[in-house]
Amino acid sequence: MAPSPVAARVANRKESRSWFEPPLPAPMEHWRPWRPRVGLAMPDEHAWWQRGVVYQVYPRSFQDSNGDGVGDLPGVLSRLDHLAALGVDAVWISPIYPSPMADFGYDVSDYTGIAPVFGSLEDFDRLVAAAHARGLRVILDYVPNHSSDRHPWFIESRSSPANPKRDWYVWRDPAPDGGPPNNWLSEFGGPAWTFDATTGQYYYHAYLPEQPDLNWRNPELRAAMLDVLRFWFDRGVDGFRVDAIHHLIEDAAFRDNPPNPDWKPGMSPARRLIRAHTMDQPEVHDEIADMRRVSDTHADAHGGERVLIGEAYLPIDRLMAYYGADLSGFQLPFNFHLLSTPWRAREIGALVERYEAALPPGAWPNWVLGNHDRSRVASRLGPAQARVAAMLLLTLRGTPTIYQGEEIGMMDVPIPPERVQDPWERNVPSLGFGRDPVRTPMQWDAGPNAGFTRGAAEPWLPLAPDHGAVNVAAQAADPRSMLSLHRALLALRRAEPALSVGSYIPIEGAEDVLAYERRDTATGRRLLVALNLGGQERELPDAASGRRTLLSTYMDNGAPRLRPDEGVVVGEPAAGLSSPA
Ligand code: NOJ
Repeated sequence: MAPSPVAARVANRKESRSWFEPPLPAPMEHWRPWRPRVGLAMPDEHAWWQRGVVYQVYPRSFQDSNGDGVGDLPGVLSRLDHLAALGVDAVWISPIYPSPMADFGYDVSDYTGIAPVFGSLEDFDRLVAAAHARGLRVILDYVPNHSSDRHPWFIESRSSPANPKRDWYVWRDPAPDGGPPNNWLSEFGGPAWTFDATTGQYYYHAYLPEQPDLNWRNPELRAAMLDVLRFWFDRGVDGFRVDAIHHLIEDAAFRDNPPNPDWKPGMSPARRLIRAHTMDQPEVHDEIADMRRVSDTHADAHGGERVLIGEAYLPIDRLMAYYGADLSGFQLPFNFHLLSTPWRAREIGALVERYEAALPPGAWPNWVLGNHDRSRVASRLGPAQARVAAMLLLTLRGTPTIYQGEEIGMMDVPIPPERVQDPWERNVPSLGFGRDPVRTPMQWDAGPNAGFTRGAAEPWLPLAPDHGAVNVAAQAADPRSMLSLHRALLALRRAEPALSVGSYIPIEGAEDVLAYERRDTATGRRLLVALNLGGQERELPDAASGRRTLLSTYMDNGAPRLRPDEGVVVGEPAAGLSSPA
């Protein structure tokens, strides 16, 4: 069989191109418009995952269709029109596989099924078809580092040291004193080793004991896990977000991790050690390249690429390795640095420049403002700056990911102790690691349970107290709402290639002002973005003079100076583009 266009391109790239050469452009003869949008951006050589915007659905909390208080796949399907109206391009769905839910789906007991609480494979197929019909790509979560302890592989593995699947997990003899084999710690508190009395050995788990680590040094396990990708690609998914990739491989010699001199009370207990031997091991890149090879042999029905997005919380220099030698790794190693960088113009500007400068040639940037593990942006920065942050996210160079609910400015919801669900909070209480506050049900309308569930069952997590006012229906009717701002930003980004694929040029701004130009290199069109990260009125950069405000976070026509907490996109109006305000 002839190789697919993408596979052929990758093979060619591997044979003949060095790390320092720019990447090959996607061959134009294989380009197919995925979602023709009349009158909007012209096709270019960028892939859909470069031009597009990803939206993360946390399925337990998006929409419940059967009244059990837990969101499900038919629920997601029923809300696809919200995503289409919002203007995103791809939906990433957190795990939907059968799972005992010790870590709410990140403990998979069957990699090729659907958890009954979420629906069935038929529901999944219907969802993919309905998403594709709306021009939305579907990205699944792939959890390769660990399975559930109830996965049949682990049940076999723990049954006997002689079992053929024993080596599919990480087993070690006790230390001479009978304790764990070394000092490694679990991310969720406690040791990373659990003793199995039946076989007299310990197994390793970077997370919960219910999440034993898979052994990627075993070729059969590796092959079985790559088959999982093939299964879902064959069912039509457009890519994967790959969970906890930096944990995939551990030190072959099982050396102790060194103590962390910077650890202080209040920090996660797992941070008492520097994860020198449990994280970011060099061998991981071979495994990622294998995943990528599988992905690249599954070009979609239109000849378009599938995407792999890697989850690795790493400093920028180490993150860059996850693009892989000669870009053979993830297309998008998640860039989480906006989550931790102080929200000041100078720091954020420096971050963008540092990240841009570190990108390997041809590597595509990406930005994240929130997800199901981190405090919501409106809680971190306050509602006014959350609007500025949305403009930043959607005007930076690179693929943005929006977490569900951020488009209406949802806040972290305090969870009463008796309703805590997150195993991390239960293991390490009161230090603020609990992730339930960011996983509360989506707020759709002002009706009972905010429209999340219409059944008698209580939602699995409490609703935000403000859901009567902060919800999709109310904000859709308000032309200045956070939702209207997101829709306007996404429409502008789609209409303006300068914003989606243009170059990024930093511009000197007044105090508190982060300013940059986005320039469409094909047409020369230039847009200026000026973001006031403070609460005082500030001057616009000189480059704005004589140009029009195309969009203000105030959702009006702008003002001669930047108002407190205001962000603007400034430029000459494009032909055929009406002001969103
Ligand atoms: C990262 C996921 O985002 C998080 O929710 C999960 O608990 C861990 N990986 C373990 O799978």
